[in-house]
Amino acid sequence: YIWEENGHIVGNASLVPFRHKGHRLYLIANVAVHPDHRRKGIARALTERAMQHARERKVDDIWLHVREDNLEAIRLYTSLGFVERARRTNWQAATDSHLNYLDADIAITKRNPRFWATQLHWLSRLYPDELGWHIHWNFNSLKPGLWTWLYLIFIDMNIRQWAAVQRDTLLSTLSWIPTGRGESLFAAIGDESDPEALTQLLIHARRDLYLSYPSVTFEFPVSRFDNAIRDAGFKPLRTLIWMQATS
Ligand SMILES: CC(C)(COP(=O)(O)OP(=O)(O)OC[C@H]1O[C@@H](n2cnc3c(N)ncnc32)[C@H](O)[C@@H]1OP(=O)(O)O)[C@@H](O)C(=O)NCCC(=O)NCCS
Repeated sequence: YIWEENGHIVGNASLVPFRHKGHRLYLIANVAVHPDHRRKGIARALTERAMQHARERKVDDIWLHVREDNLEAIRLYTSLGFVERARRTNWQAATDSHLNYLDADIAITKRNPRFWATQLHWLSRLYPDELGWHIHWNFNSLKPGLWTWLYLIFIDMNIRQWAAVQRDTLLSTLSWIPTGRGESLFAAIGDESDPEALTQLLIHARRDLYLSYPSVTFEFPVSRFDNAIRDAGFKPLRTLIWMQATS
């Protein structure tokens, strides 16, 4: 939808349809108003019209993403009944074969099949299905076993997985899924785990992927592990709030 004044477009709101496991939903995106025409209710009218469009099509959900520092937009969406469902940061770091590990009593090993149940439990919490419509994470390819191995050979996908272990206890895992999309690292860590385990794994990934990729990016919920990610040399690119319409 656009807003026109005297033949000029001064505002916009877009709708992007998604389907996920039988659910139909719309993402409202690109809400923007020309600086000379702000605070006149144009964004509100455009967003309300976009919501009406979605409701007329009887979709199951309406979502939007907003940067956490965009307080004006957050105020607008909150007043229209949107509520925060998730807050996630995109991180990036250059790969580097010369990085030093932390001086910690945490070993990095290959992901052992016996870790799978715990790893999947952590992954499901950190990459919830409720948000899967946008990111299309699919953890079947991380599952240990012959079938996954054959499947990955068939589709020519070279997944790498590592685990951080302390005295035989699993603290965290990290998986590299080269899907061609930007965010290809998936971290799993327990609520109680030492954050240094994640730092060690991320340093390891930066070293290990050095020959194949100049940089690595990943997406992770805002959490008590933010500093651990920074300590591995990752910089935040942006933090988005995921908001869902409730009215
Ligand atoms: C955010 C933006 C779209 C708002 O457009 P707008 O037409 O000026 O917004 P409206 O006049 O419809 O205001 C609707 C509500 O938004 C909030 N709001 C908008 N601008 C605000 C500001 N500068 N300060 C505080 N609140 C603000 C208020 O709650 C306002 O309601 P109120 O006027 O009753 O207080 C506009 O500032 C913009 O284009 N920003 C740059 C692009 C952008 O950030 N888009 C959002 C992407 S998620």
